[in-house]
Amino acid sequence: MRMIKWQNGTVLTPDQTKLPTEEVTLEIRTVAQMAEAIKNLRVRGAPLLGAAAAFGIAIAVYHSKATCNSELLAEMEDAAEIIKRTRPTAVNLFWAADRVLNKARGFNGTTEEMKAVVVEEAQKIADEDAEQNHRIGKNGASLIKDGDTILTHCNAGELATVEYGTALGVIRAAWEEGKKIKVIADETRPLLQGSRLTTYELKRDGIPVTLITDNMAAHIMSKGLVNLVVVGADRIVQDAVFNKIGTYGVAVLAKEHNIPFYVAAPKSTFDLSRKASDVIIEERNPDEVTHIGGKQIAPTGVNVFNPAFDATPLKYVSGIITEDGIYRKEDFAKFKPNFV
Ligand code: MRU
Repeated sequence: MRMIKWQNGTVLTPDQTKLPTEEVTLEIRTVAQMAEAIKNLRVRGAPLLGAAAAFGIAIAVYHSKATCNSELLAEMEDAAEIIKRTRPTAVNLFWAADRVLNKARGFNGTTEEMKAVVVEEAQKIADEDAEQNHRIGKNGASLIKDGDTILTHCNAGELATVEYGTALGVIRAAWEEGKKIKVIADETRPLLQGSRLTTYELKRDGIPVTLITDNMAAHIMSKGLVNLVVVGADRIVQDAVFNKIGTYGVAVLAKEHNIPFYVAAPKSTFDLSRKASDVIIEERNPDEVTHIGGKQIAPTGVNVFNPAFDATPLKYVSGIITEDGIYRKEDFAKFKPNFV
């Protein structure tokens, strides 16, 4: 199922803050609305953020009254600036925004034609993501055996992508191959993407899933109840994988218990010109930690630290599942001379 659709200048996508109790479709018609939706995680997950960024710029172009190409390009650059300021960590957002901008910069033709080319490029980004996720799923399913229990963190599912999911795409593909698997979903504090979204998707698809709180993973691994971990990624750099806060802890636990730890992500998530120390980790509102579901659970005014992502050093990663195949630990060095 498509998680983001373009309909004559309007972007349709589920409001993920309402799930799992309400299924509401957002109708986004302005760049400001797209920026708000991204900032507040109505639309979220690295690959979906890429498509959302591209469609956000397409909205500006579609509704533009610009009469020449340079004016249209300037409006696109303004839209891209607004969108790039929303969230700093997932590289797909920047990659997709730059891809549509570059398409327009290199364009020779009328302004009306340029508009069409930009919308087409945004749609292409979305279509490619959908297709790549199915390939990631197929590639990753080879790592999963009949009867395996797989632990995942956050939501790297259909909801986080244009279609099918990355980590959950791997799980879905194994299930579709007839493997009798089970999933353990970390709830993923503070914003509960695991309990709200991962369990929602898997339950809907009939894939057995058990929800745990984040602090239960060590115990469950120590009991031999997990065969494999698979998670998504927001940015893969030379020496680390950035993903939802808590991923690093899961990776360390997996290593301690000799459980393979895999990352599933499209190449649009790779940012191999950077190291972990170059990446900005988004810090979010303290309310997300002091409140759950609108209810205050900590004293008013308590000091809070709320980083949204962490960096898992590559030494904890058994392999990275991409649309082109699986890069195993021994392959990491090939990405760049100083990759590990
Ligand atoms: O803050 P979020 O919900 O956008 O964070 C999402 C994640 O960390 C996902 O694991 C990641 O984007 C991969 S999604 C295929």
